Amino acid sequence: MAHPRGQFSSKIGFLLAAAGSAVGLGNIWGFPTQAASNGGAAFLLVYLILAFVLAYPALMAELTIGRYSRSNVFTALSNMSPTPWVRTFGAAIGTVAVCTAVIILGFYAIVAGWMLAEFLAPVASLGGSETGHLWLKKNSFGRDTFMCGVMAGLTILIVARGVEKGIETWSTRLMPLLFLILTSLIVFVLMQPSAGEGLKAYLIPNLSHLREPSLYLSAMGQAFFSLSLGVGTMLIYGSYLRDTDNLPRLGASVTLLDTGFAFTAGLLIIPAIYVAQTQGVSIYSESGDLIAGPGLIFQLLPALFSSMGSAGTFLAFAFFALMTIAALTSTISMLEVPVSVCVERWGLPRAKAAWACGSVIFGLSVIIIWQFDTLFSLAITVSTEYAEPLIGVALCLFAGWVLSRKKLLEELTKGHPEIESTLFWKVWPFYVRFICPALILITFVQSLR
Ligand code: PFF
Repeated sequence: MAHPRGQFSSKIGFLLAAAGSAVGLGNIWGFPTQAASNGGAAFLLVYLILAFVLAYPALMAELTIGRYSRSNVFTALSNMSPTPWVRTFGAAIGTVAVCTAVIILGFYAIVAGWMLAEFLAPVASLGGSETGHLWLKKNSFGRDTFMCGVMAGLTILIVARGVEKGIETWSTRLMPLLFLILTSLIVFVLMQPSAGEGLKAYLIPNLSHLREPSLYLSAMGQAFFSLSLGVGTMLIYGSYLRDTDNLPRLGASVTLLDTGFAFTAGLLIIPAIYVAQTQGVSIYSESGDLIAGPGLIFQLLPALFSSMGSAGTFLAFAFFALMTIAALTSTISMLEVPVSVCVERWGLPRAKAAWACGSVIFGLSVIIIWQFDTLFSLAITVSTEYAEPLIGVALCLFAGWVLSRKKLLEELTKGHPEIESTLFWKVWPFYVRFICPALILITFVQSLR
């Protein structure tokens, strides 16, 4: 039975949903910590260039395939070509993309659960429950599973409601809130002593870092993960766009919003590290490097907040609300990938598909929590370092070679013929055929050495 396809009701609805997917823990946590340990503005500069030179064309490839095929990543890639082996290849890539989305959601929901626990901890204190506060603050199988389950449940409820009523409505509600909390936190942190030093470290580039090849690899990985590329998320969101929507402009806006959020999050996190130092909080890890990773979010920042008395309690609450909301608008976009396959391929009703896929993925998260030391970093490495860039290459090749220049330009310029006369769009099909996949591959191969 054919199901009527969902559609975003407006451009702004799509923009907020796609930016909601893109803006997540990768922006607020991943980007600032990478920038802090890779020469501040030097990393920022390389990141911005790669985001527009590599990630933006790859995003356009996904959006174009999505709107052209009006289907999920699996159906799109397996039906695009009349040649049998290309169809088989497409089906294989589609399957790997869906599995990658499932694995990313598997570990991302765990981290989202930690954020929710930290968000609820000050609430428990204020409510007078010290036991609740302690339970929420300490990693345990029970806490992690429960909190991850709550995030999975919220994600399922939103996705089950559909594209317009679920994904679009909730992204439109949550994204402005996210921006508001982020900017308020920045204003507060920048008013603290020593924040200026942090700003200097962030905004004045240490150019010697530009000589390190690892900087380019980290920046590319960060740009791909941050724009949610290579898993079929942007492809399925593109498939819900209307024919009259200006694809290149929407893609550019999503890239700008995503990089803008990452840059802005840097204005919060890096000065906060320096403010923490003046409060006597240790900002170096045991190995002598600047604290990054979980230590930054779950030790340094909470220590900073608790050194600030009752204002600190409020700040902790606001900061972890920010993280939880950012994570939620990303998890819904990940769940949409397998759900859209179940709905369109197997005719499952959306709500059933959301509960079925969400439950299986939650099962995967529980296994990861149970075998945390081996599985957590393995899941991150396999999905974000290997699968995402390689599927990104495959999607560029599909857009560049299988769609052909004529169809590609037709799809890109639908309703906006003026786009075709610009120089950029004349070179784009060539760029996405050869240059973009080659550059991604070169960077990828280098990372293996
Ligand atoms: N872009 C998200 C972030 O920066 O946190 C992560 C992400 C979302 C990756 C959706 C992949 C995805 F499909």
